[in-house]
Amino acid sequence: MTERPYVIDQMISAKSIAARIETLAREIEGEFKGTDKVVVVGILRGSFIFIADLVRELELPIEVDFIEVTSYGNAMESTGEVRILKDLRGAVEGRDVLVVEDIVDTGFTMQAIVAHLETRHPSKLRTIALLDKPSRRKVDFKAHWTGFEIPDEFVVGYGIDYAQRNRNLDHIGSVRFV
Ligand code: IMP
Ligand code: MG
Repeated sequence: MTERPYVIDQMISAKSIAARIETLAREIEGEFKGTDKVVVVGILRGSFIFIADLVRELELPIEVDFIEVTSYGNAMESTGEVRILKDLRGAVEGRDVLVVEDIVDTGFTMQAIVAHLETRHPSKLRTIALLDKPSRRKVDFKAHWTGFEIPDEFVVGYGIDYAQRNRNLDHIGSVRFV
């Protein structure tokens, strides 16, 4: 793929993300309090920074696991086909599960992951996405918690890539072609 030149405009600062995560962590603690069997499942690779910051805010006994899926290649459009590249290592039957995603866009990815995990009969299944682009939705999916609703712009940073680049930005920026 030949890359068109682009610049990145800041959309959400590192400070705002940190503040939002503190608030979300308190809500999640309320939802899961009293349990010692929470598995926090990060969706690779885009959620790796979000899950790292989120779990450090959570005052709950948790385990961490990961699942890797693909629906994208390097393009900006979802294909609607979600493939599991790497499955969970641990069992989730009878456990409380929190799925952590970077962005809900068309909704295909989260819908497929939730359906996949439901087949393993967790006792509770909750979802959180740092970002949500509701205007792009193609299937009926809403995460239990959302960090920020954003407009239909392609974003990068804080774990999220464009053609594998820019994951290491400490904030969320939008890609603008120049
Ligand atoms: P969905 O299946 O269309 O909801 O797509 C969700 C996945 O698409 C996310 O996990 C991201 O990997 C990717 N994605 C959606 N929007 C963006 C974006 O603005 N920047 C980078 N990746 C995105
Ligand atoms: Mg993703």
